[in-house]
Amino acid sequence: MNSTIGTPEFADTLMVGRLDSFGVAVRYTRAEGTKLYYVDDDGAEVAVLDGVSGFGSLMFGHNNPEIVEHAKSLLDQRIPVHAQMAGYSLALNVATELNKIIRRELETEDKFFALFGNTGAEAVEIAIKHAEFDRVSRVAALKADVAAHVEQARAAAAGGAVLSAAAAAVAGGQDIERLTAEVARRSAEAESRPPLLLALESGFHGKLVSSVQLTYNPMFRAPFAALAAQTRFIPREQPEMIAKVVEQDRVAVLDLVVTAGPAGVIDVVERDFPVFTAFMIEPIMGEGGIHPLSAELGRALREACDAIGVPLVADEIQSGMGRAGTFLSGTQIGLRPDYIILAKALGGGIAKLGVVLINEHRYHGDLEFLHSSTFGKDGFSSGIALKVLEMLEADDGAAYRQAAERGEKTIAMMEAIRADYPDCVKEVRGKGMILGFEFEDQSGSASPAVAESAKQGVLQLHIIRHLFRKHRFRVARTASSPWTVRFEPSIHLSDEDIAQVDVAFRDVCDILRSGDTSRFE
Ligand code: F0G
Repeated sequence: MNSTIGTPEFADTLMVGRLDSFGVAVRYTRAEGTKLYYVDDDGAEVAVLDGVSGFGSLMFGHNNPEIVEHAKSLLDQRIPVHAQMAGYSLALNVATELNKIIRRELETEDKFFALFGNTGAEAVEIAIKHAEFDRVSRVAALKADVAAHVEQARAAAAGGAVLSAAAAAVAGGQDIERLTAEVARRSAEAESRPPLLLALESGFHGKLVSSVQLTYNPMFRAPFAALAAQTRFIPREQPEMIAKVVEQDRVAVLDLVVTAGPAGVIDVVERDFPVFTAFMIEPIMGEGGIHPLSAELGRALREACDAIGVPLVADEIQSGMGRAGTFLSGTQIGLRPDYIILAKALGGGIAKLGVVLINEHRYHGDLEFLHSSTFGKDGFSSGIALKVLEMLEADDGAAYRQAAERGEKTIAMMEAIRADYPDCVKEVRGKGMILGFEFEDQSGSASPAVAESAKQGVLQLHIIRHLFRKHRFRVARTASSPWTVRFEPSIHLSDEDIAQVDVAFRDVCDILRSGDTSRFE
């Protein structure tokens, strides 16, 4: 075993200290395909099967030779990595390629305009900004409408029109000025309220100032609540809650209508104020424990967004890019989002970029001026992304089929373990190469040692350490679904890799069932 790496002084002091004390801190020296390598105390190189896989960035594996060669050639050609404000950039080609794929999958002729950033969370922030710009535009349109109606009402009143009973009740009598003052007051009150976002419980959308408020886990979100717009979370199994939540936060403003009559009647009506900015979802929830959304929920989300007039934003940062067997995982449930967000695997495991694709019917070009970043749209990342898209689409989509086939084989292996150890394995979830293997909560185990360790919340850590030390299989639990092991390896996962996972998980189940925790290495 590779000895401890010590406690760093200036960064990650706590994190590395914790990993180290648990015997899982490692200095990896090489990475290729599905494996990470370290050199042990005897100088021998040890291969570790990487189940963490860059949190999903390594669709084609560590240092994929084709991507690495392409990266070298980009640099050898001296491509312009930074040429901001020049007009042309390779990012434009990325947008074109993405449109070809997305329009095919969504079976639409609609265009999707691309806004680029550097990471997943940054792309989520761009989506929030765009959606908020859209909301503010809707507010402005409503205000302009109401202002025009107020002028019409004033003119009608001057011409002898009377207030309806409802309007007189609002004004406290037949007083057009008091009526319009009340309309203005209600409008100002509505506008002063901060906007709200909608998202699903156990979702994860990043950790930046705004995006973290869409991330359900309160540990990440709560300390920063005062900094950004708040989110109303909907339980994934209860789409009927959407209407209830929307109703609770509904804000109405007053509008005036001049109806027919000899001199006209000025009536007052309520109009919904645009309270919500966007509805953000992951078609397959990743960090929350690998939960694919149902087609029924997909339809309910589309209907709800249409009813409220907010964009449906599919965060495909983890689930997209072919990992689930289709370019967008949402395609498999017929999801029709207004915005699509991609990052992680788009950079081929070596570049960093994120992109938001926005349907032309909801797109505001102003964001092209309002949002920018030094490294967004850089030539190197864009060049890598083009290569990744080419690799995905090659041979009529062989990579998508490979992801699906590898997934089926892995799921079959995991389901066989569950059949043999129903007391240890609760559920196997996911599609293609985005899988979750959920252990049964062991706090009710017949073994006092196992139960106690589970109650203290350290059993999962023992499992992770054992998988690593005994089986050279690296996994991480998610913060939001502590019994689920996320498995999102490269689509080049081999049969031997699958066999290695089989042996490793079976061994853990065997130890859990035996109750002999001393067998954990
Ligand atoms: N959205 C989703 C669905 C994600 O899974 C992540 C990151 C992000 C946004 C943020 O992207 O890290 O590039 O800023 N998920 C990682 C995880 C961290 O644990 O699954 P980022």
